[in-house]
Amino acid sequence: AKEPVRVLVTGAAGQIGYALVPMIARGIMLGADQPVILHMLDIPFAAEALNGVKMELVDAAFPLLKGVVATTDVVEACTGVNVAVMVGGFPRKEGMERKDVMSKNVSIYKSQASALEQHAAPNCKVLVVANPANTNALILKEFAPSIPAKNITCLTRLDHNRALGQISERLSVQVSDVKNVIIWGNHSSTQYPDVNHATVGDKPVRELVKDDEWLNGEFITTVQQRGAAIIKARKLSSALSAASAACDHIRDWVLGTPEGTWVSMGVYSDGSYNVPAGVIYSFPVTCKNGEWTIVQGLAIDEFSRKKLDLTGAELTEEKELAYSCLS
Ligand code: NAI
Repeated sequence: AKEPVRVLVTGAAGQIGYALVPMIARGIMLGADQPVILHMLDIPFAAEALNGVKMELVDAAFPLLKGVVATTDVVEACTGVNVAVMVGGFPRKEGMERKDVMSKNVSIYKSQASALEQHAAPNCKVLVVANPANTNALILKEFAPSIPAKNITCLTRLDHNRALGQISERLSVQVSDVKNVIIWGNHSSTQYPDVNHATVGDKPVRELVKDDEWLNGEFITTVQQRGAAIIKARKLSSALSAASAACDHIRDWVLGTPEGTWVSMGVYSDGSYNVPAGVIYSFPVTCKNGEWTIVQGLAIDEFSRKKLDLTGAELTEEKELAYSCLS
C-alpha cells in the first residue's frame, strides 16, 4: 500500500475549505489509490468551526483518510506536509483600501512562508488560492528562499475551467472535448482568457465559434467577471468550483497533464513571452514527473500582446505595493 501523503489546507474552516477537504479525502486531488492525512489550519476565531469540520470528516468515514490534524498552530499545521493548499487569508471588507488588504495578507504569507520552509517535507508543493493569489504566492516565495521557486504556484485553474465552460456552452459540446485555452497573468479582472490556440476535436475554437467579436469581447469579460457574477447570485463567492479547480491543479501537477494538453498555472515568471520576470504570472504549462514547464513558442498576436502586457503591468504594480507594505 502507498504511504499517506500529508496535505495542508489553510483557512480550512472557510467556504472553500469545507468544499475542498472532502474532495481531498475522496482521492479527487491525488488519486483514488492514494491515502492522505489532512492538516487543517485556521485562526483561533474559527477554531470551534474547524473542530466541527474535523468531526464531519470522522463521520464521513473516508477509506483513504488516514488522519486529521486540526489546529490553529501554524508550525503543527505545516510539519511534514507534502502538499500545501493556502486558502486562508484576509478578505477585503467594505471601505477597506487595497493597500490595507495587501498589508494584512503580506504579513500572513510572510509568516506562513517561514513555517513551511522550516517544517514542511522536502519538495513540498505549494498552491496559493487566497487573494491576491499571485502576489500572496510571490511573498511566500520570497520569504521561503530554501523552497525552490518551481514549487510555489497560484490558482488560475478556476479561470481556465471557466473559459472551457463558456466555450462548451457556446458550441454545445462536451466540456471535456474543449482543450488548450489559456489564462495569462493575474487572477484578477485583468487576466486574459485566450482561445487562439484552443481546439475542440482537431478544429480551432475560433473556426468553430465563427464570431470573433464575441470571442474578443463578451467571452473575455464573462470569464474575467465570473467571480463577481457568482457572488451576485449566491451572495457568497465561488467555493465548489474553486475547490474543484484546486484539486485539478494539484492532480495535474503531481500526476501529469495528458499528452497534447496544457493547463493554466500561476508560476514564477522567467520572462517567457516577454512578460515581466520575477512575478507569479499565469502561463500555459504541461506537467510531467511532478514538474511544470511553460509551453513555449505559441504565436501571440497584437490583440493578445496588449492584454499580456496589461495584466503583467498590474502584477508589477501589485508587487511594488506588497513590498511597500513590508517596509
Ligand atoms: P472564507 O472567508 O470563507 O474562508 C477563509 C478562511 O481563512 C476563514 O475560515 C478564516 O478564518 C481563515 N483565515 C484567515 N486568516 C488566516 C490565517 N492567517 N491562517 C489560516 N487561516 C486563516 O473565504 P473562502 O470563500 O473560503 O475564500 C478563501 C480565499 O480564496 C479568499 O481569499 C478568496 O478571495 C480566494 N479565492 C480565490 C480563488 C482563485 O481562483 N484563486 C477563487 C475563489 C476564492
